[in-house]
Amino acid sequence: MFDFGRLLRDQDEGDRRTPVVVAAGPSWDYQGVYEALGYRVRYHQLRPERGFAPSDDDLDVLLAEVDARPDERLALMVVNAQHNPTAVNWDPQFVASSIRKAAGRGAGILVDDAYYAVHDDEVVPTSALAVLLEQLADLPASARQRWLMVRSLGKQFHCNGWGIGAMVADPQTLDLLVNRYCLHNCLMYGGGYQPAMARWLADPASGEFLARQRVTYRQRRTVIGEFLTGRLGYPTEAVHLGECSSYLMLSVPREYALLPDGVERFRWDCFAATGVLLAPAWPWPYPASVDTPLPYVRMFIGPETELIRTALTRLESAGFHHDMPVRRPESRSVPMG
Ligand SMILES: Cc1ncc(COP(=O)(O)O)c(C=O)c1O
Repeated sequence: MFDFGRLLRDQDEGDRRTPVVVAAGPSWDYQGVYEALGYRVRYHQLRPERGFAPSDDDLDVLLAEVDARPDERLALMVVNAQHNPTAVNWDPQFVASSIRKAAGRGAGILVDDAYYAVHDDEVVPTSALAVLLEQLADLPASARQRWLMVRSLGKQFHCNGWGIGAMVADPQTLDLLVNRYCLHNCLMYGGGYQPAMARWLADPASGEFLARQRVTYRQRRTVIGEFLTGRLGYPTEAVHLGECSSYLMLSVPREYALLPDGVERFRWDCFAATGVLLAPAWPWPYPASVDTPLPYVRMFIGPETELIRTALTRLESAGFHHDMPVRRPESRSVPMG
């Protein structure tokens, strides 16, 4: 991802405008990857009232803003079709149109498929890669090599630390990435893990693991949703269960949502009183959340169902509820033992 940014930057050398990365927000930390390279990351918003689905209209407004600025140019469009953190499986039509909009402006396309195989059973994940490949022949010739798909295998198999994933790109782009750009950071990296992962992928057990995971993730979403609405007073519209990725979203309690730092205060109060740490919708250090605050937190649904139930029960026992008052700072206590 980072090296693709370096490659595009080199190819566009001489253009003095600020290169802009467009992603859907809230999002994973693309700022952390691209701002160090001199890109500016801008977001089209995923809104709770639309079930966090991306919208062509919002994307168009943002692209028009970038187009209108003499000091900016669209350099890269991020497509994260099994979206972190919103758990929405993007509509293939939206994926296709965003690819066309990016390619038509000479921008690169990053298909971030980190959660491609992580979805509930009975969900057909949108293959952004298949959509892109279908579009390829119709894209301007200059765009046909300016794309990359990355698929971390860490999310589906819970082995993030291994740092192993798959890359798909035009052969020339792949050659440049693997034999030039990536060499500075991953020469000999993860060599021992690669055959182990290759064996695991070839073993039917890996497919069975994913099939089981799809069922349990769906069940967990149901368990959590029922707990939130049945026991923690959440209205259904304040819970967004989603259908893919390892997350779901819930709003912070009503009174916290009114505070400018409500998400942070809720996370802290919750952690201090119960030991349960929820993630913010925006990633750390969340500079984008200041411009576009979203009163939601993200729950990781990877742990065992019983552990999740224990965490929720702790919230309930500590008086956490959608209609709870904001805790006064002096009432915070860190549990011992
Ligand atoms: C959307 C998204 N893309 C990429 C990554 C990076 O994945 P990895 O650290 O496994 O390479 C993450 C990790 O959380 C992610 O959520």
